[in-house]
Amino acid sequence: MKKKELEIKLQKLEPHPNPSPELEQYMTPGDIAASLLYLAHSHGSIKGKKIYDLGCGTGRLAIGAALLGGKKIIGVDIDGEALKIAKKNSAQADVENIEWIRADVSNLELPETDTVIQNPPFGVQKKGADMVFLNKALQFGKDVYSIHKGVPKNRDYISEQVKELGGRITNRIEKEFHIPSQFKYHTRKVYRFKVDLYRIIRR
Ligand SMILES: C[S@@+](CC[C@H](N)C(=O)[O-])C[C@H]1O[C@@H](n2cnc3c(N)ncnc32)[C@H](O)[C@@H]1O
Repeated sequence: MKKKELEIKLQKLEPHPNPSPELEQYMTPGDIAASLLYLAHSHGSIKGKKIYDLGCGTGRLAIGAALLGGKKIIGVDIDGEALKIAKKNSAQADVENIEWIRADVSNLELPETDTVIQNPPFGVQKKGADMVFLNKALQFGKDVYSIHKGVPKNRDYISEQVKELGGRITNRIEKEFHIPSQFKYHTRKVYRFKVDLYRIIRR
């Protein structure tokens, strides 16, 4: 499947009807989701692999991984409503090899896996939420693909944390998120902010 085709498919998936600002529940835009998945695909981390999507929400990354040939995918989210839509979305995308699990990532225990993909909360609402996800991702996955806030201070912080967690950043790609207004406190039609897409491996 071409990247553009994947992007269009993912963009069409149903969004969360009632997103929570506290859980930072916005969908990864289709172009960013496709870029992260293709980064993983180009490193051999998708096709035939066992993959976890932490904070899977309505399923965009997990479904994209299945469409690119992932062998078995587990999507984890704390919110049952998001998972209901994720199930619907996977049926609509005609993929069957995804298991959806409701759990809090902070006390999640799963066996080691090939690849972890994630667009975690950025820790804007709950300080440190992004690091909880990064910690778990590196605990479970040999190869981790993760999206984080793209500001210099955060980059330095992520680099330090990754080292401490025993990982190594091999790729960092700068992108821009475009999120339509969706929370009560949003006053603009579209919000734009810089993000970084990382590939991190265990040392
Ligand atoms: C930025 S959204 C990304 C959603 C989805 N991965 C996507 O790409 O569209 C972050 C997700 O993390 C989930 N989340 C937040 N805190 C969590 C926690 N402690 N455990 C599990 N999921 C959590 C939210 O419910 C939300 O779906």
